[in-house]
Amino acid sequence: MSEEPRTASGGAVDVLSDAFYAAREDDLSRRLRHGRFEHALGVARTAENLARLYGADERKARLAGLLHDWDKSYDDEGIRARVEELGLVVDPYVFEEMPQLLHGPTAAAALAREFPGLPRDVVQAIERHTAGAVGMTDLDMIVYIADALEPGRDYEGLGEIRSLVGRVSLEELYLATFGHVFLNLVQRRKRIHPQTIEIWNHYIARSRDAADDRRKKKGTA
Ligand SMILES: [Fe+2]
Ligand SMILES: [Fe+2]
Repeated sequence: MSEEPRTASGGAVDVLSDAFYAAREDDLSRRLRHGRFEHALGVARTAENLARLYGADERKARLAGLLHDWDKSYDDEGIRARVEELGLVVDPYVFEEMPQLLHGPTAAAALAREFPGLPRDVVQAIERHTAGAVGMTDLDMIVYIADALEPGRDYEGLGEIRSLVGRVSLEELYLATFGHVFLNLVQRRKRIHPQTIEIWNHYIARSRDAADDRRKKKGTA
């Protein structure tokens, strides 16, 4: 186990330091199989780039991206045990039928417990990366998008979403990514997280309102 980086005063661990990042990368190389580990590195780099592009905290984005799949190697029973051990309150249907979708919430809780200095917003972005949420922060959206767009990903329609990076707002990019993931699950006859419709309706309404505002402004200009 590597020595945890301390602040100059010898106080709490500096969780946004390069040393903390390197130590967690080291942990992850043992927690995840190789392909999944490479994915985590890709998400970290992509999240950092998105943060730079959209004016968010690059170090927080990089760290949340790196850690987002911290609990990805548990099987269904392992995730359920993890939920119980961490004392999480979760949707009973998801717990029974699709426990893998809880690897975000369990990772967030486990990491917050192990590293109490982790910023709350980093923990939340990790928690929300699987299902998304209503009221996503910029950091939440960046990690969600980076998870879908990192260079190791390859699926139909990916190029189209990648081409939107930097050309549309972060929220529009999130909506496009979320919609694509949703559609893809339906096409592959997969089950959908119960919150998905609520999130979709929330963001599509906001997107329409924003488009209406732009039209009105154009009309009066
Ligand atoms: Fe994940
Ligand atoms: Fe992931």
